[in-house]
Amino acid sequence: KILILDFGSQYTQLIARRVRELNVYCEIHPYNNYPVLDDSVKGVILSGSPFSVRDPKAPIPDLSEMKAKLPLLGVCYGAQHLAHCFGGEVMASNKREYGRANLTFVDDSNSLFKNISLNSQVWMSHGDTIEKMPSNFKVIASTADVANAAFTIEGENTYGIQFHPEVYHSTEGKELLKNYVVGICGCAQDWTPDSFVESTVTELKAKIGDDKVILGLSGGVDSTVAAMLLHKAIGENLYCIFVDNGLLRKNEFYNVLKKYEVLGLNVIGVDAGERFLKKLAGVSDPETKRKIIGNTFVDVFDEESHKIEDAKWLGQGTIYPDVIESLSVNGPSQTIKSHHNVGGLPDYMKLKVVEPLRLLFKDEVRRVGKSMGLEDKFIQRHPFPGPGLAIRILGDITPEKVQILQEVDDIYISGLKSDGLYHEVWQAGAILLPIQSVGVMGDERTYERVVALRAVGSTDGMTADWSHLPYEFLAKISNQIINNVKGVNRVVYDISSKPPATIEWE
Ligand code: XMP
Repeated sequence: KILILDFGSQYTQLIARRVRELNVYCEIHPYNNYPVLDDSVKGVILSGSPFSVRDPKAPIPDLSEMKAKLPLLGVCYGAQHLAHCFGGEVMASNKREYGRANLTFVDDSNSLFKNISLNSQVWMSHGDTIEKMPSNFKVIASTADVANAAFTIEGENTYGIQFHPEVYHSTEGKELLKNYVVGICGCAQDWTPDSFVESTVTELKAKIGDDKVILGLSGGVDSTVAAMLLHKAIGENLYCIFVDNGLLRKNEFYNVLKKYEVLGLNVIGVDAGERFLKKLAGVSDPETKRKIIGNTFVDVFDEESHKIEDAKWLGQGTIYPDVIESLSVNGPSQTIKSHHNVGGLPDYMKLKVVEPLRLLFKDEVRRVGKSMGLEDKFIQRHPFPGPGLAIRILGDITPEKVQILQEVDDIYISGLKSDGLYHEVWQAGAILLPIQSVGVMGDERTYERVVALRAVGSTDGMTADWSHLPYEFLAKISNQIINNVKGVNRVVYDISSKPPATIEWE
């Protein structure tokens, strides 16, 4: 495997993703807290950083165990650190060095730049530049503005590159990373979804033995794939709990239970809708709604889990971004953040945690699911928030409003599916607004509710653009909603992006 030492760059996760896309396993660790370098570690990558090496608070790694012993690749800050630390000079650059640049010199006799073309586009993002190189450093690539864009240390397998090979705008970046992890580090490209399933199932068997595991299913991809892996490892000893909080999509509880049945999972469906809605009665504040739903879920889950005797483990669908976030280098003093999914175990549930997906990114979870034979309807679902329709009913929640919104949402989502638009958008849903408006149906004046439709494109939910759904489609859906859902006489479409808006309205 490859070890990536993180100095806090926003791109560190991207490096890991690119390396894994090459079917080479890698792990991210904080620069000052990484595991022992045993034989399994074939090479190390030093990430970028928001810091300048000239900053008194700059993160300084201890490289004594790796430099000149293992292949080492510094990216951006990582490269500057090597130059700065071993006798070179790093200065603030006069020119802005952000965005596209092209390689004007490439030493293609060097293994790192094998098959990388002259003029290749690379992506720069740095305020400092390596002004003077230490005498034993050799330049292996340059751009018009950055003479020392890449170097190697003579007599060592140590490299530095000023640009970011991990971003897509570095068009041959993946080739360069391949030269490093495969050519220089000698990693075999054998880390595939199938091999992941095989090794994970073996590990889970050894770890859990004959113990019982409880896992909360949500219908989403993470919990489903986690359940499938555990099921493959321990079979009937996996007990899945799926809670209906009364705020799911129309028929969702029934449909998802059915789908799980087909997968052969042992699922306990808990119909707790009334209980949730009672607790939510009269509550309008979004954060209070979230809190009530979270707490009630824990109560219900806890009660159900006590019915399973001798359970020793709690299975969770935690994925790698949550894990990294909880360990990340956050400034020089390394604050450890605790993330809600990591170790988020109520005290009174004295269970050990098992997280089969804690090393995977979302797209890798999907690939693993696919390799285990999960159908697209599980894997390619839109994200759906934990508090469900509660945060799409603005204002207080009543059973009647839930029912109206379920009908509207069902028409909208079914329409997206039948018109082949579902997979064109990242997430879609309807919002019930807390206002009424005047309308006319037949000869009657109406005074009814307004719903908003929302659809966005995104890759991770952090930023999003509203989807340009065809007018004809919107017209058709609007008609269907108003004609079929009693109590709604107006439909609007949300054309705001995130930022400055958010995806959900609450
Ligand atoms: P926002 O509204 O913040 O949403 O742009 C970003 C993504 O997060 C989902 N979301 C939630 N998911 N609990 C969840 O599990 C929540 O309280 C919650 N709030 C928003 C939202 O659906 C979108 O995918």
